[in-house]
Amino acid sequence: MFNNKSILITGGTGSFGKKYVKTLLEQYSPKKIIIYSRDELKQYEMEQIFNEPCMRYFIGDVRDKERLTRAMRGVDFVIHAAALKHVPAAEYNPMECVKTNINGAENVIDAALDNNVEKVIALSTDKAANPINLYGATKLASDKIFVAANNISGGHRTTFSVVRYGNVVGSRGSVVPFFQKLIDNGSDHLPITHTDMTRFWITLQQGVDFVLKNFARMYGGEIFVPKIPSIKITDLATAMAPNLTQKIVGIRPGEKLHEVMCPAEICYTTYEFNDHFVIAPAIKFSSRSNDFTVNALDEKGKLVPEGFEYDSLNNDEFLSIKQIQSLNITAFL
Ligand SMILES: NC(=O)c1ccc[n+]([C@@H]2O[C@H](COP(=O)([O-])OP(=O)(O)OC[C@H]3O[C@@H](n4cnc5c(N)ncnc54)[C@H](OP(=O)(O)O)[C@@H]3O)[C@@H](O)[C@H]2O)c1
Repeated sequence: MFNNKSILITGGTGSFGKKYVKTLLEQYSPKKIIIYSRDELKQYEMEQIFNEPCMRYFIGDVRDKERLTRAMRGVDFVIHAAALKHVPAAEYNPMECVKTNINGAENVIDAALDNNVEKVIALSTDKAANPINLYGATKLASDKIFVAANNISGGHRTTFSVVRYGNVVGSRGSVVPFFQKLIDNGSDHLPITHTDMTRFWITLQQGVDFVLKNFARMYGGEIFVPKIPSIKITDLATAMAPNLTQKIVGIRPGEKLHEVMCPAEICYTTYEFNDHFVIAPAIKFSSRSNDFTVNALDEKGKLVPEGFEYDSLNNDEFLSIKQIQSLNITAFL
């Protein structure tokens, strides 16, 4: 699907972008991979690792529509990964988060339409489902803008979908590197915000593979959610440091006890497939199919039961302490 194609990744120097590029180069022979982000140092460092002739490094901000439009010339597929995603920083600098995550989404859509890009996938997060912090709220707004963009693309071939998943194991600022640093520094305990807290568990490679697959599955308008296991935070702490005590420090502002990916309130538009869910658009498209029960790979889904919610507490699959230990967690850091 990506052979001899041009692919642009906004936020391509981030954790997702680098893994995505690595996977693309291993599995396909793209014509061009364009990395679009702001910081020249991150691009310089990435260029030391990925310097294949198909690689292009563009300095640019998703807030800058003109630059984005130029960067997307001749592009077939776009992955929109650029975001401000630090929850407390978003609360403190709300308009910066709005400008990047919401205005940036609009610019990506406009640039894709103007260049007749074939398919765009935007990355979302579980924090966008029933959001309680500004980061989540901006990502929900972004999701809605991408879904609705399928209605304004009349006359163009461009289709837009969203991929939503939970905390990536080992990603910057997440709990695994936080615990690991305390363990390495000889701490006598691990801080736990709440004994009942649960989280979804996905590796970067699983996230990348899911996005790749959804380019083939999508019609446009879907929010794709992978079926992934949950963990209890206390089990994670025990798995990483069985001999350390756990001290309860209290839940932090903007943090949920459990994360949601498919809220119960939208069960009427949520479809279950073999290894994922699809949240169908809340609006009807005027010029394309509104049937999301079968995807472009001919996989069939069924409407979830009334009241069904896909959240990290009521998940069918939980990793046990032994299973977490068998994963060699530090390899994800
Ligand atoms: N990490 C997770 O646990 C997780 C979970 C679920 C969903 N997600 C979503 O996945 C996506 C990628 O996350 P990640 O972990 O790869 O993030 P990351 O490592 O923080 O990378 C973010 C990337 O975005 C770029 N960026 C930030 N602001 C930009 C702007 N205004 N214009 C252009 N580029 C900009 C950054 O480069 P510069 O600073 O150089 O511009 C960097 O390349 C995000 O949309 C995030 O919401 C992440």
